Amino acid sequence: MNILVTGGAGYIGSHVVKLLLENTSYSVTVIDSLVTGFESTIGELKKIRNFDFIKADLSKWNEIEKIFKANKFDAIIHFAASLIVPESVEKPLKYYLNNTANTANLVKLANEYGVNKFIFSSTAAVYGEPDISEIGSGIKEDFPANPINPYGQSKLFSEKIIQDTAKANSQFKYVIFRYFNVAGAAPDLSIGQKTKNATHLIKVASECAVGKRDGMYIFGTDYPTPDGTCIRDYIHVMDLADAHIKAVDYLDENESDVFNIGYGKGASVKEVIDTVKKVSGVDFKVETAPRRAGDPAMLIADSSKIKEKMKWQPKYDDLETICKTAYEWEKKLI
Ligand SMILES: NC(=O)c1ccc[n+]([C@@H]2O[C@H](COP(=O)([O-])OP(=O)(O)OC[C@H]3O[C@@H](n4cnc5c(N)ncnc54)[C@H](O)[C@@H]3O)[C@@H](O)[C@H]2O)c1
Repeated sequence: MNILVTGGAGYIGSHVVKLLLENTSYSVTVIDSLVTGFESTIGELKKIRNFDFIKADLSKWNEIEKIFKANKFDAIIHFAASLIVPESVEKPLKYYLNNTANTANLVKLANEYGVNKFIFSSTAAVYGEPDISEIGSGIKEDFPANPINPYGQSKLFSEKIIQDTAKANSQFKYVIFRYFNVAGAAPDLSIGQKTKNATHLIKVASECAVGKRDGMYIFGTDYPTPDGTCIRDYIHVMDLADAHIKAVDYLDENESDVFNIGYGKGASVKEVIDTVKKVSGVDFKVETAPRRAGDPAMLIADSSKIKEKMKWQPKYDDLETICKTAYEWEKKLI
């Protein structure tokens, strides 16, 4: 099976490419502009087995079409996107063009060139700021989508484009994953998160632990949660990657669908920081600051659908394991 991965030089995409390369039944082509991805990650992945890496920008629609003309893909796993929420508020068009318009073009090419499986990276940001009293234990896929920033909106528009296309073309099938908080690194530490100026909590705390940052802030300690800090559902990147491989096969026998993907349980900001301190043995400086706009108190996935329908079974469902791989990776990066 020949799989096109967009954004395969980035954090999550590279972990999926790793799993694809470790299974010889897949051949892999990666398209990445390297705007936030890394050529060194491609080099690391090529140590597993060779594959086609094409440095190209999805906004160059003619160039991308040439790649479809020259190859016969069986599935597309589409990660390439811009994903910084505050930047999306300042530069909404960047997000609607890179995330939505380029997805529309990719879906168009998939239809024109008979690529009938499309796996898409969406986000819990499509749910906006859900009221925890309404959610109960976790957010199900049918919870109303109500993004509160252009990033989330650009992903929701992309979802609609994919879904409407599938309604009009019965051959074309999709899996849309709405990721919760992704963290950690490949346990063999061959690859991990290299994101520059990252705002992801576990990455930031790990950077503090290795001395790359002097300290960090907790934004808001007066949320209606047991310790007053926000609660999120952290998923190890390898478990997330595994779901993408499952999704490709899932579409052979099953209909298109949308899946939330997290572990269905939460950890508070304080708990995460304490865990990174514990696994690293470093007591780095942490200060408190006021709440940031648009941070919901709690975001936890109800992951029963993916477990039931896709038989997805996480292997790294443990905050210490997630933080340990993130910290060990960060140490390797110094
Ligand atoms: N990291 C998270 O916690 C998280 C959470 C929810 C959803 N997501 C989604 O997962 C996907 C991957 O995120 P990530 O964390 O790996 O980010 P990343 O920035 O590490 O990876 C994105 C990759 O896409 C490439 N890219 C971006 N625009 C491109 C373009 N126009 N043409 C070609 N390549 C382009 C970048 O160079 C990069 O390698 C994104 O779609 C993101 O919205 C991530």
